[in-house]
Amino acid sequence: MTRLGILLSGRGSNFLAIADNIAAGSLTNCEIAVVISNKADAPGLDAARNRGLTAVAIEANGRKRAEHDAEIIATLRAHQVDYVILAGYMRLLSPGFIQAFPQRILNIHPSLLPAFPGLDAQQQAFDYGVHVAGCTVHFVDEQLDHGVIITQRTVPVLDTDDEPTLARRILTEEHIAYSEAIAKVISGKYEISGRRYIRKK
Ligand code: GRF
Repeated sequence: MTRLGILLSGRGSNFLAIADNIAAGSLTNCEIAVVISNKADAPGLDAARNRGLTAVAIEANGRKRAEHDAEIIATLRAHQVDYVILAGYMRLLSPGFIQAFPQRILNIHPSLLPAFPGLDAQQQAFDYGVHVAGCTVHFVDEQLDHGVIITQRTVPVLDTDDEPTLARRILTEEHIAYSEAIAKVISGKYEISGRRYIRKK
């Protein structure tokens, strides 16, 4: 059974979608070992506790990033986590963190990367005037929103949209995309080839 460690900072709707898919049996062969937030008041942390999952707040409290990350790494290791799932974790990871879990950290970003990395991706896409938007699940490397792409899902941008309606449409796809990506990774049937994530021959 593959053990997932979830990192979040906020509402945790992507975490909940993953937890729901595991509970429903549509995402198999994995379990959530621990949910960690850098914010003690993150709604996602309460949601995890309500589901009987182990939920831990590890606040930075002015500590250096490497020091804070070391405590998170220790907690992930203590729970024997195989894959780290960033689900709205609003903090950059130190290089040491990324090296501690090589090709084992996944992130979801609400744009079709490499377009619109960074904050407010949906607003960036809307303002740019794209006709197709979407989300990306990717491996985390040392550059922001840059690692090898595992899966993407697209949505149309409608004439009647504003940023909130577009963001909601993207979020619905995020909730599908993350479980699809996790299933792909833990299947063991795919490999990284350059920048591509392709089925093993
Ligand atoms: C999502 O839009 C995700 O793509 C981005 O942060 C947001 C987190 O939302 N990385 P939630 O906490 O999962 O609801």
